[in-house]
Amino acid sequence: MKKYLSILLALVMMFSLAAMTPAVVSAEEQQTVGIAMPTKSLERWNRDGTYLKDEFEAEGFKVELTYSDNDVPQQNNDIDNLIASEVDLLIVAAIDGEALNRTLGDAKEAGIPVIAYDRLIMNTDAISYYVSFDNYTVGKLQGEYVVEALGLEEAEDVVYNIEFTAGDPADNNARFFFNGAFDTLEPYIESGILNVVSGQTEFEQVATAAWSTDTALARMQNILASFYSDGTVLDVALCSNDSTALGVAQAITSDYAGDNAPIITGQDGDIANLRNIVDGIQTMTVYKNVANQAVVTLELGKLILAGEEPAEDFVDGLPIEVAYDTETYDNGTGIIPSYLLVPTTITADNLEELVETGLYEWEDDYLVSTAE
Ligand code: BGC
Repeated sequence: MKKYLSILLALVMMFSLAAMTPAVVSAEEQQTVGIAMPTKSLERWNRDGTYLKDEFEAEGFKVELTYSDNDVPQQNNDIDNLIASEVDLLIVAAIDGEALNRTLGDAKEAGIPVIAYDRLIMNTDAISYYVSFDNYTVGKLQGEYVVEALGLEEAEDVVYNIEFTAGDPADNNARFFFNGAFDTLEPYIESGILNVVSGQTEFEQVATAAWSTDTALARMQNILASFYSDGTVLDVALCSNDSTALGVAQAITSDYAGDNAPIITGQDGDIANLRNIVDGIQTMTVYKNVANQAVVTLELGKLILAGEEPAEDFVDGLPIEVAYDTETYDNGTGIIPSYLLVPTTITADNLEELVETGLYEWEDDYLVSTAE
């Protein structure tokens, strides 16, 4: 009897020990996530890459992270390599949303699911889901900031001059940002309260290839020389994001004849732009918490890697506010189910909100990133 009791005890101990020990995943079983980011030259993608890598690795996944120097053939090549190394999931922030269909077709053939990250990827049925922010709202917040700051709703017998700078036509987001801002301001342009002195109001006229700071700088210098050198006042430079706002701010600082500080909008909360906000050079930025975007991508990725599909109420269980959108993002092959996070407006008055995220801290008078 005693013998049986001790065997029983040993068995009980074995089972409870097994339950307490975390499952050890062998190298063969460990799943790999391939992450393709556009470029290291634009600040935000460095943060996205770091946060995504950290999130997936912390959950025991292997991560292969590539940056493609804003070069389209290079990104195709990088994704080809990720497919060849048999990753189990691809997360892709496209450089050119129209240029990945052959490569992602190969991913589909190899049975590798794809999440379009931040930017929708067009004309391919290889995309399972899209994780981004509400891109139209990003532009809308910029427009609404201008309406409020200039008191346009109450304005009478006054004209404010404005110029637009938008993003890369190859990036599906760029039109959403521009439309969100333009639609908000259009009634005031039509009534004459806002005047686009250059006359450049079409997306194609104001777009900035590769979101380049230098290109935005050169175009704004041109506009200032052509339309504002006689002392015409510029009240607003509506810029779709921080990399373009940086160039526009530089042009205004060096080439603008007026002595007012035009409103300059942006998006992302890049460190250089946050400095400009403290210094009163840039006025606002639309902040998108990409650490949260990485968390949402992780939760979605985990389901996909487990061979499951997110339930209708998947977003309700997330620790972050996310909208599930099945109407807005058609990539030419049909609607891509989208998970959209919420952007917020940051000005000199609420920079502390960024510190509260834990992702930024003060260093003297300026904010720096706390990311490693
Ligand atoms: C992103 C923005 C970013 C821009 C340039 C867009 O697709 O959504 O956050 O500023 O690309 O990198």
